[in-house]
Amino acid sequence: MARLCVVGMGYVGLVTALCFAKLGNSVIGVDKDINKLKLLSEGSPTFYEHGLDELLREGLEKGKLSFTNDINRSIEQSEIIFICVGTPPGENGRPDLSQVEEVARSIAINLKSYKLIVEKSTVPAGTAERIKQTIKLAGGEDTVFDVASNPEFLREGSAIADFSCPDRIVLGVDTSMARTMLKELYRDFDCPVLITDIATAELIKHASNAFLATKISFSNLVADICEKVGANINLVVDGLGYDRRIGREFLNAGIGYGGSCFPKDVKAFAAMAGALGVNNTLLKEVDRINEDRIGAIVKKIEDALWVCKNKRIALLGLAFKCNTDDIRESPGIKLVRELVRKGSLVTCYDPKAMDNARGELKNLGDVLSFAETPYVAASEADALVLMTEWPEFVQLDFLRMKKLMRTPVIIDGRNMLQAEEIEKIGFWYSGIGCHRGNRKSKFQYDN
Ligand code: UDX
Ligand code: UDX
Repeated sequence: MARLCVVGMGYVGLVTALCFAKLGNSVIGVDKDINKLKLLSEGSPTFYEHGLDELLREGLEKGKLSFTNDINRSIEQSEIIFICVGTPPGENGRPDLSQVEEVARSIAINLKSYKLIVEKSTVPAGTAERIKQTIKLAGGEDTVFDVASNPEFLREGSAIADFSCPDRIVLGVDTSMARTMLKELYRDFDCPVLITDIATAELIKHASNAFLATKISFSNLVADICEKVGANINLVVDGLGYDRRIGREFLNAGIGYGGSCFPKDVKAFAAMAGALGVNNTLLKEVDRINEDRIGAIVKKIEDALWVCKNKRIALLGLAFKCNTDDIRESPGIKLVRELVRKGSLVTCYDPKAMDNARGELKNLGDVLSFAETPYVAASEADALVLMTEWPEFVQLDFLRMKKLMRTPVIIDGRNMLQAEEIEKIGFWYSGIGCHRGNRKSKFQYDN
């Protein structure tokens, strides 16, 4: 078994640390956030992820897992160091890699024996060369370390399952030592292992996220066309998805993609292509279509209510997708801000993300309130807007909802409800790209 150090106890690093400990490796989780470390050492996860608490407790009980902010000692005691720190958006869309650089400098002053440094954070192709250069300039010798790329393909909400049963493992290496150590680390995995040079592995990650985001923006583009011709996007994408070359996943139209990955990775990929002199129009269009989704939702609210000002909007769903409490780049959060800017009174509810949302939105004042249940949120509301596909929202008692609301309007940002049922109850229902119920389809050719 290997001795590992995982730097960055965020959504990626913590899952990586716990899953490697489960496989029998000794893992040190490193972070600068003392509060985070204290909670983790007590067995309390710092974010919601299915199955995380059991893995954390098991790792601590078996003595396979420890947490510290002492990065120097952790590096010294480990053979393999995973870099899982944040790579947030920087200027002009390029990622801010200062956290990665800081870890590289810490490694450079602790190279008393061979270390394999592994990038797991999503980074632009060429970052590994930067890490090598940083370490050498800060005093590290060529012979005592290698850098490799082992990108993560974890989806929030299914991160542990995605780690344990990946579609593929990608190992970007440039020495036989690095290749041997990583193949050994992943020996128990039963999936394709793709071994490439480092830049190729870095690029696979960026291109994967950008392509998945492209599927989503393509679906949203087609949804906009569906609305003009009275077609139903859900059936259109079913029709596309039966083609094995296309596949049905990541074609759900709606409010666009959020989260800490797609929005920043598409921008970063476009910025990198542009900096290399490659035409990045396609990637910029994927991003533009996505950015326009909030405006499309507001227009649907105005189609029903005429103006947003002084209207009470009940907004269900603040997490960027279901099965997570993460609100980073969440469309629900963006819609709250836009509705408040337009003078609406907004009442929000989310089953998991309320605490994170309260912190993020605390400066919006009393035009924003947080309800303990969807029914409290709907009381006296002029419209109900569904922004996150939590299954409990499908089970709501809409007859009761209608009695509670001031006007019966539902904007379904995830096409998660049965329009015909909802319209039978007497709601004005508007989904995304779906000609629903008996409302007249209208061809709106401009020319
Ligand atoms: C991040 C990126 O968002 C993702 O695209 C990439 O693939 C992996 O890294 P995430 O786990 O969500 O994913 O990052 P984040 O939740 O921001 O956690 C980063 C952690 O690193 C934080 O806990 C932060 O305290 C810690 N950190 C950051 C350090 O411990 N040391 C540092 O020098 C910088
Ligand atoms: C993504 C990638 O899937 C994962 O491989 C990578 O490692 C990290 O980024 P994540 O961001 O956690 O994972 O969530 P994902 O399930 O991919 O959803 C991303 C966004 O796309 C969410 O806002 C989701 O609501 C949206 N989405 C997803 C759609 O709008 N339509 C879809 O059909 C699928």
